[in-house]
Order: sequence, then structure tokens, then C-alpha cells
Amino acid sequence: MFQHVEFYAGDPILGLMDKYKADERSQKVNLGVGVYYDEEGRLPVLECVKTVETQLANPPKPRPYLPMDGLPGYRAACQRLLFGSDHIAVKEKRIASTATLGGSGALCVGANFIHRWFPKARVFVSDPTWGNHIGIFEGAGFEVGKYPYYNPAIIGVRFDEMCAFLQELRENDVVLLHPCCHNPTGVDLSREQWDQVLNIIKEKKLIPFMDIAYQGFGDDMDSDAYAIRRAADLGLSLFVSNSFSKNLSLYGERVGGLSVVCPSDEEARRVQGQLQFTIRRIYSSPPSHGGYVVDGVMNDEALFTQWVGEVYVMRDRIRDMRQKLQDALSEKLPERDFSYFTKQRGMFSFTGLTPEQAERLQKEFAVYIVSNGRMCVAGLNSKNIDYVAACMAEVLK
Ligand code: LMR
Repeated sequence: MFQHVEFYAGDPILGLMDKYKADERSQKVNLGVGVYYDEEGRLPVLECVKTVETQLANPPKPRPYLPMDGLPGYRAACQRLLFGSDHIAVKEKRIASTATLGGSGALCVGANFIHRWFPKARVFVSDPTWGNHIGIFEGAGFEVGKYPYYNPAIIGVRFDEMCAFLQELRENDVVLLHPCCHNPTGVDLSREQWDQVLNIIKEKKLIPFMDIAYQGFGDDMDSDAYAIRRAADLGLSLFVSNSFSKNLSLYGERVGGLSVVCPSDEEARRVQGQLQFTIRRIYSSPPSHGGYVVDGVMNDEALFTQWVGEVYVMRDRIRDMRQKLQDALSEKLPERDFSYFTKQRGMFSFTGLTPEQAERLQKEFAVYIVSNGRMCVAGLNSKNIDYVAACMAEVLK
């Protein structure tokens, strides 16, 4: 019966995690998946999360079905975080928001919605992008193309080529953008560049889909949302998928959100209904535990402030690791320029290592990075950084 079912070679990121787990070498280092580990190499449970979870457990609460689009306080929190509480679109109730199963769930619900209501649209992602962007949009039935983005020669953006490419797109084509901490390159647009890109999007009537999975890990909560707020200021209709996996360290709870900025509150209500309909047909409604945790942290002033502080501690530790790795490698290979480590932002660094070099790191040294050369800097700590620098220098020689 299943002879025609094709073999699945596994996911380049999640498969690497499995390989890492199975590796029995004691010196192994996991720099593959985009997960933040603390200085002790542990996955942190944030203090603000502990507080809410303690409240939720004492006494244990019943678990009714949540609404299809999640808890109202959760949805409002997504909007405040992404747009700022005073944003005119929030005040005018022009944003349809739903809780989703992580950022991937948000992309999936958004992709399904767009495919239904804009069936002729094509989708364009940055070259390169997070692999699952392509998978999710193709899975929803789209043809997915790439717009020029990363230029290894300058460890920056092919900005003119990107703009020229966007100029040629058709009305209602979807452009997937990373507002901060670009995955996998760590290379972001400047504010001036965002302004230009968003003007093109407006002029050409394209549909921006902003995927923000690392809010708070770039500069700060507000600055990281610059592109989203600017797009909304320009009066653009846009999709925003967000994730709490990283900034609340709640990976397995699958907590994310999808927000759609609409021209009017009346359209937002219709979009909200169709998002509910989309969700009902895929998984009905979101799980409750993560939802209550996010709701609890985001809607209590003291816990919210504590949370932002905890995110900045993670951000600063990553920055410190970037600097230390840059220094260590520059000392070992002074003829090479490693300044890109501290220029790139967020959890990832595109190291420029070739797939062969990445494989050597894994096979010979038990250091795991993604085969495209992406390293999760958040997996470094003061105990493994010298080892990683020595191994990298060895394969780069
Ligand atoms: C990553 O890019 O490593 C993370 O977003 C995890 C994932 O699902 O790929």
C-alpha cells in the first residue's frame, strides 16, 4: 500500500538536533538549532514563567477548550508587543490577531488564508531564508521564489538588487521579510533600507508578510519591531507572524501569533472570522497551558517588566559570545577578518563555512552547525568557546 510513499531525508535543522543527541562524544557542542542555552549550557526557565506556572498549578485549573483564536489577553499582548499599545491600528481595532502553534503555525495559518483569498499570489522569500518558510508556503499550494538578499562578499545585503527585484513583482505577490535577526544570516536591513523597501511594497501593492521570531534579541523590543510599525504607519495591509518560543524560552509549548493589519475594523472582523475558520479546519483551537503562561506574563506589569529584563540578559550574553569568538578566531587566524560576528544580530551567525567544513566540524570535532554555515551563537558558553574557536580555526586553515 505505501510503496509509492517517498523517503523523507529529514529536516536539516531538526534532524541535526537528533544527530547531536545521539552523539556520544563528551566534548560535543550544539550550535545547530535556534535555541538559547545559558552559560551552563541549560535551557532556561524564565523567572517570570516560573511565577505564572506556580500560580497556574496552585490549585490546578480545569482545561476547557480555548477559543479558536486563543485567549483575548494573549491576542491583545501580541498586538501591543508588535505595534506598541498606542498604535493607531490597535486603537482603531484594525488588526485581526490569533494565537497560533508557534511561529510555524502562524506562517501556516497565514499561508492557508492567503492562498484561499489571493489564489493568484506568488510568494517570495529572501535568498537565503529559514528553510521552513519555503516548505510551509509550498505546502499551502504556493509557488515560492527568492529575492536577492545576502551578499557574502560584503557580509551584507544586496540591497540594490533586492529593490530592483521587488519592483518587478505583480500586485498582491507576497514578500516574506524578517523584521530583525535575519535567519540564517544575522544580517538585517537598516532603518533607511526598510523605509525604501516598504515604499516599493506600497507602490507596487505587494503583500508584506513579516516573520518575527527573535523580538528582543536584536536591539530591543521596540527597535526590533521597527519595520512592522513603519509598515503599519504607511497604511499597508500586512501579515505578521510572531513567536514566543525563543523570547519566553517556551519552545515546546508552541506559542506564537498571527496578526493581520487591515484597512478598517470591519475588514479586520471578517479576516478574524476567516482566521478562526482556517484554524478550525486544521487543529480547531490552541493548547491552553502555554497560552495561559503568555497571557499571565504579558498582562501583569511587573512580570512583563521582569520578562523584558530577562530577554535582555539573553541578548547580552549572546553579544558577549559573539565578541569572544571573534577575538579568539582573530588571534588564531590574524590574516582573516572575523568582524562579521559582532556585526550580525540575533542568535545566528552565517560563518561562511562551506558544507564540507561544517561536516568536518561535526565528524572530526563533534561541533554541530547547520550545513549552510549557520551557527547558533546562543549555544556558546565560556566552557566550550575556546574549543569551538580551535576547531573552527582548524577547518578554516
Ligand atoms: C531554527 O531556525 O533553528 C529554529 O527556528 C528552529 C526550527 O524550527 O528550525
